[in-house]
Amino acid sequence: QTIYLSDYQPFGYLVDEVALTFDLDPHKTRVKSRISFRRNPEAEDGEFFLHGEGLKLISAQIDGKPVTPKVTASGLTCDVPDTPFFWEAEVEIDPKGNTALEGLYMSNGMYCTQCEAEGFRKITYYPDRPDVMSVFTVTINGPHPVLLSNGNPVAQGQNHAEWHDPWPKPAYLFALVAGDLIAHSDRFTTMSGREVDLNLYVRPGDEGKCAFGMEALKASMKWDEDVYGREYDLDLFNIVAVDDFNMGAMENKGLNIFNSAAVLASPETSTDDNFERIEAIIAHEYFHNWTGNRITCRDWFQLCLKEGLTVYRDSQFTSDMRSAPVKRIGDVIDLRSRQFAEDQGPLAHPVRPESFQEINNFYTATVYEKGAEVIGMLKTLVGDEAYSKALDLYFERHDGDAATIEDWLKVFEETTGRDLTQFKRWYSQAGTPRVDVTEAWDAGKGMLTLTFAQHTPPSTATPKPAPQVLPIAVGLIGPDGSEVAPTRVLEVTEAEQSFTFDGLDERPVASVLRGFSAPVVLKHDLSKDERLHLLAHDSDAFNRWEAGRTLARQSLLSTILHGSAPDADWLDALQVVLSDETLEPAYRALMLGLPGHADLASTLHDTGETPDPAAIHRAVESTRDAMAARFAEVLGDLYTRHTVDAPYRPDAEQSGKRALTNAAMSLLTRVQGADRAQAQFDGADNMTQQLSALAALVRSGQGDKALADFEAQWRNDRLVMDKWFGLQVSQAKPDEAAAVAQRLTEHADFNWKNPNRFRAVFGSLAMHHAGFHHESGKGYKLLADWLIKLDPVNPQTTARLCSAFQTWRRYDVDRQKKIEVELDRILATPGLSRDTTEMLSRIREA
Ligand code: ARG
Ligand code: ZN
Repeated sequence: QTIYLSDYQPFGYLVDEVALTFDLDPHKTRVKSRISFRRNPEAEDGEFFLHGEGLKLISAQIDGKPVTPKVTASGLTCDVPDTPFFWEAEVEIDPKGNTALEGLYMSNGMYCTQCEAEGFRKITYYPDRPDVMSVFTVTINGPHPVLLSNGNPVAQGQNHAEWHDPWPKPAYLFALVAGDLIAHSDRFTTMSGREVDLNLYVRPGDEGKCAFGMEALKASMKWDEDVYGREYDLDLFNIVAVDDFNMGAMENKGLNIFNSAAVLASPETSTDDNFERIEAIIAHEYFHNWTGNRITCRDWFQLCLKEGLTVYRDSQFTSDMRSAPVKRIGDVIDLRSRQFAEDQGPLAHPVRPESFQEINNFYTATVYEKGAEVIGMLKTLVGDEAYSKALDLYFERHDGDAATIEDWLKVFEETTGRDLTQFKRWYSQAGTPRVDVTEAWDAGKGMLTLTFAQHTPPSTATPKPAPQVLPIAVGLIGPDGSEVAPTRVLEVTEAEQSFTFDGLDERPVASVLRGFSAPVVLKHDLSKDERLHLLAHDSDAFNRWEAGRTLARQSLLSTILHGSAPDADWLDALQVVLSDETLEPAYRALMLGLPGHADLASTLHDTGETPDPAAIHRAVESTRDAMAARFAEVLGDLYTRHTVDAPYRPDAEQSGKRALTNAAMSLLTRVQGADRAQAQFDGADNMTQQLSALAALVRSGQGDKALADFEAQWRNDRLVMDKWFGLQVSQAKPDEAAAVAQRLTEHADFNWKNPNRFRAVFGSLAMHHAGFHHESGKGYKLLADWLIKLDPVNPQTTARLCSAFQTWRRYDVDRQKKIEVELDRILATPGLSRDTTEMLSRIREA
């Protein structure tokens, strides 16, 4: 059953107050609700329908008199008075039997909730839609030292707690936690002087992993005041770490709940990348307090209103805390690998989808990451000052609202006087625009003309794409390497459009799409020499990296297609960059990276070739071997020069040095044997050093002892063991990856109902391009077997992993046939969830 944006109708009733009482019990939790309803004057339809799923209704009353509602599998209806009334109900639910991790469930003996998007209906009967906002009071009874809900505590007793949240909110922001937890506490004084108590609640044993998350929280609170003028609005802010969680984290009002992998950190157990990601997720969830909670979404089609904006805000935060160019490059790598794949395949959908069957399937890279790119473009187009003004107006006008994309764009139109009608296509059209740039040089006039032609390939979601507004940042680099024209933002609005630069003495090299100013695929036919010139001189850090990446991609493509040796000119130029001590180490580490296998497959597919995963793997391996051989001396020097002696800090500076030395160590292992990696492994006092050495050892085939040692050392740390499981799959040889994954599923600690552990093995398999797409088809079959097994237990995690198959039409007929068999086998499974059915039928129809 499909739900459409165009069918939106407000709910027939307003809810002023909700009082909930929980009597906790693993299998028989009782939930009493007392809810005040009155007719919504804005709504025509007065049908009284409350969502409810998997609930055992014990009793129901209206204004104290028993009623007998009509109950179905999705909710209930009831005759109600015309005047305001109180609805009361009691239901029974089974948290321990809830393996889907949606609604109220148990994880390692603690109770917790996940209600976004539609989990509250598994807790009690309620109008479970984001435009119904109310004030919640919650009473919790249960034999647990810690009993938490949203807002401020109003009463605390033995096995009893009462909470009141003064801010009206939709049910998806409700949360409850109960268990034997320990708080890591701190304080924050807001800009107006409000004292806020901060707590990070963890299971006993995890106390040592809280300090970093707490610092990140305080930094986020300060940053949102400084940059957006947003202040926190309760006396208390709680975060709870939970081991079993489908996603990263959740922004419940005053009670954020986190996947423990997204909050717990210590130098010994977390990598630098983990620290950076944790800092970003803490910020993301905190920022939702304004962009998501104070201003929420009218309906789930508007999800990007809160997610795109909040991702954009957390990326600004990370850029400010760390290196802006390094963050931008990382984000673009991620966008290209996840969002472009989605946008160019059968799952393509607009940033604001117009229909869905299961909303959980739309928490996608398109809604989140492309949604953030759209905000970035808007800011580029209107400028920083107008962006700030528009945001101020947005917060002022829509505080307390369940808003829409129309509301959002309107504040920009009003502050800037711009007509955003065409810009709005970014929200309604699926697909990645292709932009072709051609150059015309008039030596006599000293004039360079750039002509842009844009075209978005049609998709099922958008059969007839129209031209988009493209902010294209361009600068010009002169023959001597100096910048002869600083960055100028060209606004491309037509299918084809030209811009001129004049007053030029000599023909410059155009640096186009600086900072990746629009999420498009750019085709700019520069010569190799021009790209080498940009790699050596571009003053835009992103495009300098991009020049190197394009040269790397071209070199790899000719290795794949023609067996040629790696491009020597590119390697020479890269060597110069690597040795340039004026460039930050993290940036040089990125320069040493190569396009991923899936990225190369996509480029091949784009140029009409059928990608051969085995050939791609061989080309990447031989290119890395060549880099290692050619750069051996420089790499050895970098390793020594940038090895960190100081006590471990997870900041940008030290992390950058470790990224560079570990990239060097990994390459050197190819030409100098495993001694350096083994020594680093043995001497490591932090997980970044230990894990990267372990990866190099396993990849070189000499990791058996280190794997055993690592397991012995970390067997009791679930988060570290996730790394151990994942690394063995990701570093496996292509013909062994499926067998390694299979063997790991037989390990005593392969707790497949835990999403982190399941993803450690099967997410890694899906991302191992040559292993997953091995010609035998065993990767496909193994993943399908386990998706079938997981679906009845946890549909949401199953459906997410189905995206491993989304690119299947790129490959040869044999592989397509093998995948088709697996897709059909999964689809034929009796009782397959709505989540998985929707994902696979969209993929299958491609
Ligand atoms: N709002 C959360 C975040 O982005 C994500 C929750 C997604 N949950 C889900 N079941 N789809 O921070
Ligand atoms: Zn979010």
